[in-house]
Amino acid sequence: MILVTGVSGALGGSILRGLRAHGGLEVAGGSRAGDGGAGGVRLVDFDRPRTLPGAFAGVDVLVLVSAGYAEDDVVLARHGAVVRAAAEAGVRHVVYTSLAGSGDPLSIALAHRWTEARLAEAPFEVTVLRNGLYAELLADLALAGTVGDVLAAPLADGAMPVVARDDLADVAVRVAAETHADLAAGRPRRHAGRTYELEGETALGGADLAALLTEALGRPVGYRPVPLGEARAALGASGLEPYQVGHTLSLFSAAGAGLMRSRGGDLRAFLDVPRPAARVVAARLASAR
Ligand SMILES: NC(=O)c1ccc[n+]([C@@H]2O[C@H](COP(=O)([O-])OP(=O)(O)OC[C@H]3O[C@@H](n4cnc5c(N)ncnc54)[C@H](OP(=O)(O)O)[C@@H]3O)[C@@H](O)[C@H]2O)c1
Repeated sequence: MILVTGVSGALGGSILRGLRAHGGLEVAGGSRAGDGGAGGVRLVDFDRPRTLPGAFAGVDVLVLVSAGYAEDDVVLARHGAVVRAAAEAGVRHVVYTSLAGSGDPLSIALAHRWTEARLAEAPFEVTVLRNGLYAELLADLALAGTVGDVLAAPLADGAMPVVARDDLADVAVRVAAETHADLAAGRPRRHAGRTYELEGETALGGADLAALLTEALGRPVGYRPVPLGEARAALGASGLEPYQVGHTLSLFSAAGAGLMRSRGGDLRAFLDVPRPAARVVAARLASAR
C-alpha cells in the first residue's frame, strides 16, 4: 500500500488525487485532519509521534511530504519522528519531497539536507525528489510585494528558477506508482537510492514579475528593487511568523545575489512537456485580480 502524508496541503493533495486516478493501486492519505481511515485518510501528525505507528501499519511505500512550515528544530523533530516510525513499522520505501540544488543557499535547505541524511541511514530504500521552488510561491510573493502600480522586492537583478507544483506532484505519482509496481513484481526498484533534481526551467526576476503582473492585473505595474533591510521591516510588520520572515529574506537574498542557479535536472526524464512556469505564475496572479 502507498501512504501519502500531508494530503490536506496542495502538494500532498495533488499526489493523492493522482495516485487514486492512476487505478489499480491501494492508496491512503495521511493528514492531521485524518478521518480515522473511513474516507481513506489516516490520522498523521508528525508533532504527535504516537499517531504514526498505526498510520504506517501495512504501508509499503511512504510518500513523505515535507512539513516545513515551522522553526528548524520543530521540522527536524517532525521528520526525525517519521523516519524512526517508518523504520519500526517496516515501511519498505520512502519517497521524500526535498529541495532542489538551486535552493542550497536558502535557510530552508538545512532541514531538507538533514532529513536526506537521516533517510540515507534508515533501513528502507529511499527516493529523494529535490523539488524546485513552486511557481505558485513566487506568484504569492509578487502579490504580497505589490502595492498599487509598484512591485517592491529585494531581488536586485537576480532571478529564481521555478516549477509548477502540479508537475512535481505528477513526478511523485509516477515514482510512487512505479516503486509500488516494482515491489509487487519482486524486481529491483528502479528509483531506489536515486535523487532527482526537479529544477524549474524558467528563472523569473523582478522585471519579469512586473510584466506578468501588468498582464494579469490589466494595469501597468513597475518593479522597484528595494534593500533587504527595507524588505525585512515590511515583512516583520506584515504578520508573518518570525521564522517565515527569515526564510523569505533568505530566498530574496540568495536570488538577488544571483546564487539561485539551476544546473539542469531530471524534470524531463519524467515529463514530456513541463507546464510553462511563467503561465502558472500569470494564472495565479490573475486569480487574485
Ligand atoms: N518547493 C517550494 O517552493 C516550497 C514552498 C513552500 C513549501 N514547501 C514545502 O513543501 C511542503 C508541501 O507544500 P504545499 O504547497 O503542499 O504546502 P501547504 O499546502 O501549505 O501544506 C502544508 C503541508 O504541511 C503538512 N503539515 C504541517 N504540519 C504537519 C504535521 N505536524 N504533521 C504532518 N504534516 C504536517 C500539511 O499536512 P496536513 O495539513 O494534511 O496535516 C501539508 O501537507 C510544505 O510543507 C513545505 O515543507 C516547498
